Amino acid sequence: MQFTIGFEKEDTKKLHEYWDEIIATQQWSEGKFTKIFEEKWAEHNELYSVAFSSWGGAALAALEFYDIKGKTVLCPSNTFMATPLSVIKAGGHVEFVDCNKNDLCLSLDDLRRKIEEYKPVAVWVVHIGGHIAFQIEEIAALCKAKGIILLEDCAHAHGASWNGKKPGSWGDSGVYSFYATKTISTGEGGMLVTKNEELVDFAKKYRNWGKFDYEVEGLNYRMDEFTAAIGCLQADRLDDIVAWKNEYARKKLDKEFTNRVKFPEGMISGYYKYIVFEAIEKSTGKVYDQPCHKIMKKDYELPNTDWVAKNHWCVPLYYKGDEG
Ligand SMILES: Cc1ncc(COP(=O)(O)O)c(C=O)c1O
Repeated sequence: MQFTIGFEKEDTKKLHEYWDEIIATQQWSEGKFTKIFEEKWAEHNELYSVAFSSWGGAALAALEFYDIKGKTVLCPSNTFMATPLSVIKAGGHVEFVDCNKNDLCLSLDDLRRKIEEYKPVAVWVVHIGGHIAFQIEEIAALCKAKGIILLEDCAHAHGASWNGKKPGSWGDSGVYSFYATKTISTGEGGMLVTKNEELVDFAKKYRNWGKFDYEVEGLNYRMDEFTAAIGCLQADRLDDIVAWKNEYARKKLDKEFTNRVKFPEGMISGYYKYIVFEAIEKSTGKVYDQPCHKIMKKDYELPNTDWVAKNHWCVPLYYKGDEG
């Protein structure tokens, strides 16, 4: 697998200085870089931020905090299997919701139907491709009115906003991934964001075997200091990377690709993916070509999800990359 990492080459020297400091101080875990990365992310995202070694660890922390064990959680089918698997691993039952054709994200209409049918305790919304789900306001209002926990899978959404509001701030919590393909990467890693201080406390114990009162039955999902040091530099570059991708999209790609995802007024995409609805010669493929409800052999149809799987493609768009 060949990655094209969004990393500013100028930052290499500084990264080596950070790593030298970590080696010299022998603080390879639970040190200052994890704390600084969290502070930087919190400042940018305007939410408390807790770093994890993976998206999965952070997602499990949120799902266990909201006690979904033995209960139903709704999830879009147009997502990576990580989203439904997090529910299953947390002991929950997952059912799928269709998406919209225009934003590839959770459909409000189908969500209404599935809430009546399955009486879920929580809903995952996924900001597919790096833009915010177009119906997020209505989805958040509906979940609030019904007393349903709303979790935002922000794995694609670094640097996105809608009228200044950032991913993770509509729901009860959001979870980012820093996997190597993402707009902001640390190689591996995750970040839980929330306005709920109790969840912050729970998450910090969850990633650390419940230390020190052991009331939380967590595992080890700590981010190491070398990774966190990359995160600090990447957090500082987030605005530059997203601005560069947006300018490239506006100046070059938008002219060439008119049959594409079109964002509502005030929305900025982090452009994890540049998505079009026509087969193109030079494509990086699909965001997902296999809907999760099919992988999990559910016996119902989700027509928009099937349509999206067949009818979208991604145009290469990498920060200062060869393709971009
Ligand atoms: C929507 C979505 N959620 C969760 C994940 C899981 O993230 P990670 O690869 O960091 O485990 C991914 C994939 O990377 C993803 O695309």
